[in-house]
Amino acid sequence: MENTYIINTHSHVNMLKDTDIDTAISNAQKANIITIVPSSTADDIFEVDKFIQKYDDVYGYVGVFPEEAKTFTDKTLNNMENIIKNNKKIIGIGEIGLDYYWDKSFKELQKEVFIKQIKFANEMNLPLNIHSREAHLDTLEILKKYNKNSIAILHCFSGSLEFAKECIKEGIYIALGGVVTFKNAIKAKEVASNIPLEYLLLETDDPYLAPVPYRGKENQPLYVTYVASEIAKLRNTTTEEIAKITTINAERIFNFNAK
Ligand code: NI
Repeated sequence: MENTYIINTHSHVNMLKDTDIDTAISNAQKANIITIVPSSTADDIFEVDKFIQKYDDVYGYVGVFPEEAKTFTDKTLNNMENIIKNNKKIIGIGEIGLDYYWDKSFKELQKEVFIKQIKFANEMNLPLNIHSREAHLDTLEILKKYNKNSIAILHCFSGSLEFAKECIKEGIYIALGGVVTFKNAIKAKEVASNIPLEYLLLETDDPYLAPVPYRGKENQPLYVTYVASEIAKLRNTTTEEIAKITTINAERIFNFNAK
């Protein structure tokens, strides 16, 4: 795997607690892993902007997470636009979307903030990194209706193979993380085994959802290699092949060259 890069399309490496952040990033750099860090609230877009400028091979998204929709104000899109114009390492809008798992009391607000950010991404011509939890149908419906020209990625994809295929038909990419390594993750394994590789991306979503053999511990960007090797095993191919194809996919989406 010496010259093969892996693009970790979703990592909150700035949120690690048990692991030293500089060490986690240098572990990833040494393994040729490029890390993309999403933001979550209307305020931490500024933190992510500053954070990613400190490190090589670390890029970022600006966006407001559905559970944080209440932090979104009239100024938020202006702030995002300023950051995007001044920092070329911001390469997408995320993580945005819908989450009906924790709190269903402000579904309408979540939808409104999601739609505003989709339209904004379209104007900026940037891809979307999307969080969708127990909201698959609404997410797809909103994307079909409002998204004109941004490539959409469903991060930490948790739907069925059938739903994955429906998304791919709409040109949506599927990002898989540590869950695919869990013994009982039948749906995720089925998705990983069967979707066209041209629509697959890798991620960790660290510090959460560490893959086996670190399940239950704090996750970190480096562990994306376990995700790649599990998918390789499921598809009866090499980790290198999975790394190569997903890197080509990410380079196409984000319009950059890994190296
Ligand atoms: Ni996340």
